[in-house]
Amino acid sequence: MPAITCIDDLKRLHERRAPRMFFDYCESGSWTEQTFRENTTDFADIRLRQKVAVNMEGRTTKSQMIGQDVAMPVALAPVGMTGMQCADGEIKAARAAEKFGVPFTLSTMSICSIEDVAEATTKPFWFQLYVMRDKDFVAGMIERAKKAKCSALVLTLDLQILGQRHKDLKNDLNAPPRLTLKNLLNLATKPQWCLGMLGTKRRTFRNIVGHAKGVQNLNSLMSWTAEQFDPRLDWDKIRQIKDMWGGKLILKGILDAEDARRAADFGADAIVVSNHGGRQLDGALSSIRMLPEIVRAVGDKTEVHLDSGIRSGQDVLKALALGAKGTYIGRSYIYGLGAMGEKGVTKALEVIHKELDISMALCGERDVNNLRRDNVLIPSGYFDAYH
Ligand SMILES: Cc1cc2nc3c(=O)[nH]c(=O)nc-3n(C[C@H](O)[C@H](O)[C@H](O)COP(=O)(O)O)c2cc1C
Repeated sequence: MPAITCIDDLKRLHERRAPRMFFDYCESGSWTEQTFRENTTDFADIRLRQKVAVNMEGRTTKSQMIGQDVAMPVALAPVGMTGMQCADGEIKAARAAEKFGVPFTLSTMSICSIEDVAEATTKPFWFQLYVMRDKDFVAGMIERAKKAKCSALVLTLDLQILGQRHKDLKNDLNAPPRLTLKNLLNLATKPQWCLGMLGTKRRTFRNIVGHAKGVQNLNSLMSWTAEQFDPRLDWDKIRQIKDMWGGKLILKGILDAEDARRAADFGADAIVVSNHGGRQLDGALSSIRMLPEIVRAVGDKTEVHLDSGIRSGQDVLKALALGAKGTYIGRSYIYGLGAMGEKGVTKALEVIHKELDISMALCGERDVNNLRRDNVLIPSGYFDAYH
């Protein structure tokens, strides 16, 4: 086993161990992938301010997100088809998050169902909802999330219509993969993955199959999802969902100060500044570039969280310094999962935690909650380069 020192090491192992179509599904953005690339390069353009002769003892990365204690302000983002990166992927990721003390968010488009994850964990997790046209299905999902004692609903607002990802079309992405000659040749090089999948019954979208009207098998599922994302989602519908849910509500996918103000006035417990990891509007600015303007717009009316592009603890530090109260990682933990299952997710969290802790100390800070604008150095024109 090679030494794993950074998230990139996990990514290389993920690429080797997971079937090509699932690695590509993770490692792609929409169209030209400009936004996907800039999510990470924009983080790299921000630098950290080194401070010396400051007592570094007694450091803490503990904080809170929506009033819940977290070992560090880094949650696992909702990621569809996680259970195809390795068998029972959602259960493994949720267990790793629980042991580490950070929130896990289960996607609507997961392979393991809400009930599967609830059964395999002991603490509440968060549930991410996509709004579908089928009202009964949405109401049913909310009821199931309540029954499973999920402690927050993450409502995703930036995917009512799908941004095109070229690789998914070329690979004919499916769960489980269709057994074509090309796929069989690729699967033959992934014995560990195949063994894992043979050993589980969870191989399709279990939140949906058997729960949505008329969806009993893969064919009906594919046509159902293609038609179901509701393009008429608006603030009235978001209000209905808020009332139905009645608990903590996080609005995900906000990238604009006006939208952020609206979400804060609406009474969201938190908003997630996000461009869906560069998978939706190609050409949108990176989340980190939009963060300070959004933080200013909402003031202290709601908590501001951020995702898209975080690949290290230094990135987390930069987001917190620029005003985020919490962050989420998507690909960074999926690489770990595809590389080594639950152990890999734990490794990803350990890597990010260590980077955050040590970098924070070298910036002269002992408490993650004290990070502020002073801790980072920003190139001139960075935040007002685009109008
Ligand atoms: C493979 C993949 C699948 C995703 N599926 C979902 C999903 O089902 N629901 C959702 O709200 N966001 C989804 N996202 C977006 C993530 O929640 C998150 O916004 C994004 O991964 C953050 O960017 P990062 O991967 O650079 O950390 C997905 C992201 C990836 C990479």
